[in-house]
Amino acid sequence: MRAGRFVQQPTGYVAFEPAPLPPEPPVRLDGELLRLLSSADLALGRLDGITGILPNPDLFVAMYVRQEAVLSSQIEGTQASLTDVLQFEAGDREGSKLRDVQEVVNYVGAMNYGLEQTSLPMSLRLIREIHAHLMQGVRGEHLEPGEFRRTQNWIGPAGCTLSTASFVPPPPHLLLQLMGTLERFLYDETLPPLIHAGLAHAQFETIHPFLDGNGRVGRLLITFLLCQRGVLSRPLLYISHFLKQNRAEYYDRLQAVRTNGAWEEWLTFFIRGVRDVASQAHETARRILDLRTRYQALLQNEGKAGATLLRALDVVFAQPVLTPATLEEKLGVTYVTANNHVARLMELGILQEMTGYKRNRRFSFAPYLALFESTAPTASASASPSPARSEP
Ligand SMILES: Nc1ncnc2c1ncn2[C@@H]1O[C@H](COP(=O)(O)OP(=O)(O)O)[C@@H](O)[C@H]1O
Ligand SMILES: [Mg+2]
Repeated sequence: MRAGRFVQQPTGYVAFEPAPLPPEPPVRLDGELLRLLSSADLALGRLDGITGILPNPDLFVAMYVRQEAVLSSQIEGTQASLTDVLQFEAGDREGSKLRDVQEVVNYVGAMNYGLEQTSLPMSLRLIREIHAHLMQGVRGEHLEPGEFRRTQNWIGPAGCTLSTASFVPPPPHLLLQLMGTLERFLYDETLPPLIHAGLAHAQFETIHPFLDGNGRVGRLLITFLLCQRGVLSRPLLYISHFLKQNRAEYYDRLQAVRTNGAWEEWLTFFIRGVRDVASQAHETARRILDLRTRYQALLQNEGKAGATLLRALDVVFAQPVLTPATLEEKLGVTYVTANNHVARLMELGILQEMTGYKRNRRFSFAPYLALFESTAPTASASASPSPARSEP
């Protein structure tokens, strides 16, 4: 078979043993796939181009990273929202969702850690380090952060067994060899970047090298590869938006690679997602620019306080949920002055007080958050419980 074989193991169960990448016979780059590839490349180029004309792109790149972290974690059933994460960053350590929020915060840390290393090629060592960042201190901690599994795992509905699972990844004794082969493929830059990233992600999910966190590490890998191959100079693509909205198809397409060698169909799906999300992310960036220009113009009329308020505006773009103490620290002003700035930004409709805080009042840059919330899936599209998976 093109993508691998289902092999009966000595103890009786059947596991999938993937063939090395690239696929043999090679991916057919024609028809719809070729057209999509070229339109996705265009959309990515446009998205990447907008960061070149922004005065201060890092201000809001962090929001794209948080958004991807939230959506990728939601695919796996995490309940935390973007606002929950921003509240946590603003110092809020209460609430029932703290564990979920911590998972997303770890995801952001793992993403930033990986992005700092993209001058080096993706290696197995880096993949394990990223997994360790992702899993530290949260519920997967007993599931060996940073370690490849040494036992058989399986994927399927909650409560399923090794024999009733929807998919059984390769047995543990093959892991090092399979991951070593995947690592060589990650170094190999002969295929177009999107084909490279799509193949690598699917193969990673098929190998399922960790006891938990495979979905998230595999999606991080997509961003890292695209940045490393120079398709994006910054991590602006929230691909999980598409994968979450099309979760059933996402899993079906991965499964069809294994059962039918359907690489072209998987890549068509994946690249269509990249193209759609790249266009949306570009539109979001354009709206952010508009918003910034509009508020900067408004603050031109603020007289003496104007210069500091303009700096405050930059702070709220980077940290759209905050307390007056945030401004005090970032602007180096007194608490009283910071409080006055918050009050003025509220009058101008830039900040809003968040409800539910008697002490330690929090404020949000609501018009900005709304730009990201409009990319979030609607409640009806949100996921059913994520597939459970355990070890024997
Ligand atoms: N047949 C399948 N059904 C469900 N998920 C699958 C299947 N094949 C691969 N997967 C991948 O497994 C991931 C879930 O694995 P898991 O280790 O629990 O990751 P995480 O902890 O990040 O949720 C999914 O996001 C998906 O990418
Ligand atoms: Mg999981």
